[in-house]
Amino acid sequence: MRISVIGCGYLGAVHAAAMADLGHTVVGVDVDEAKVASLSAARAPFFEPGLPEVLASATASGRLRFTTDFSAVEDADVHFVAVGTPQSAEGDAADMRFVDAAFGSLLERVKPGDVIVGKSTVPVGTAARLARLVAERAPEVTLAWNPEFLREGFAVKDTVSPDRLVYGVPGGEAGERAARILDGVYERAVAAGTPVIVTDYATAELVKVAANAFLATKISFINAMAEIAEATGADVTQLADAIGHDARIGRRFLNAGVGFGGGCLPKDIRAFSARARELGRGDAVRFLDEVDQINLRRRARVVELVREQAGGLAGVRVGVLGLAFKPHSDDVRDSPALDIAMRLADEGAIVTATDPQAIENARRRAPKVAYATSPEEAVAGADVVVLITEWPEFVGLDPEVIGRLVTRRSIIDGRNALDPAAWRAAGWEYHGLGR
Ligand code: UDX
Repeated sequence: MRISVIGCGYLGAVHAAAMADLGHTVVGVDVDEAKVASLSAARAPFFEPGLPEVLASATASGRLRFTTDFSAVEDADVHFVAVGTPQSAEGDAADMRFVDAAFGSLLERVKPGDVIVGKSTVPVGTAARLARLVAERAPEVTLAWNPEFLREGFAVKDTVSPDRLVYGVPGGEAGERAARILDGVYERAVAAGTPVIVTDYATAELVKVAANAFLATKISFINAMAEIAEATGADVTQLADAIGHDARIGRRFLNAGVGFGGGCLPKDIRAFSARARELGRGDAVRFLDEVDQINLRRRARVVELVREQAGGLAGVRVGVLGLAFKPHSDDVRDSPALDIAMRLADEGAIVTATDPQAIENARRRAPKVAYATSPEEAVAGADVVVLITEWPEFVGLDPEVIGRLVTRRSIIDGRNALDPAAWRAAGWEYHGLGR
């Protein structure tokens, strides 16, 4: 099939490469010249395991190209819109400027029979609004909404072998045809038995935000238990193991720590609340405000723990391990690690941070923090060490070796990822969150 992908960020670049890998002919379009130049040279503009290999093989096959020239979409019949919907500067709602601009440009160039497929995470009701625009400006084009559930760090795998496919389509023959075309796009996954759920627009839009709201709630639930554990001396990791054995609950996404961040969960729950309020149903999702507050309290708790450990923050040397919002990513959007590093620096601590992939992205946002290229360098002379992103190379550090580099053996484990007994045995004062 001939596919265009509008927007080549974390979502679009992976989608374009994965679609070409599946055998489709794909053009990725983005307004960012540097990004397009990098992708055209088969270089991933961000860190995503597996993406460089897929980019290289798909580009070499001649089935994948990238351009800033929007007219390239004229060579495609199925157009995926994968632009960002960040939190707006004025409040909690999603900023729809990029989606609206993409549709504006696309509708000038589509031809009868084409299918436009929205992938961006949008406030419920957006697809219906855009469908009216499509009907006005390109009446023989169909709009479908096909939300993306990829996790950064596993994005290629999640795109090629998703755990489910959701198609939001209009009723009637046009919708049936759009669903058949999407089955063709995802032929391999469909043939492998991936569940396909065909819905109306609103349901498809809601599936995405509901899934992310649920995941965020699960994390904040265990972090709320961590707050109680801290007041009682209980151990939240054992609690999570024990309740996680109940198959109805499940152990995944019950890791207590500094909480969730990234380009999706935080802004998606805020946009969901904002949209629900617009719909007059704010009460139904008011718990999401609490989920957000519990999450943000964990960051503040780490700052307090450092203060307690060091007896103040001014002039205290803190070695921060981790900057990305989670391991196997270079993404620092709404990263708890970067947020904590910045708060510590703002309060006068001398912060040196490191991360295997995210230093460059962090440096642009947080110039007050000093950066080191190795964990050893980051913790050298530290009064307190804080582990915030559980990269395997940090979790595997030898407490004895690291202990020789610091001025005081004091560690705060923001992800409950270390073995407290091993660190204590090496003479460290160990603090987890909720244990
Ligand atoms: C998420 C969803 O998982 C994905 O389906 C959706 O398409 C996009 O948003 P992603 O942002 O890549 O994906 O990250 P995810 O793996 O969900 O982690 C989100 C955050 O939660 C990270 O900061 C992570 O460290 C944190 N987290 C995760 C916890 O604090 N505890 C956990 O148990 C799990």
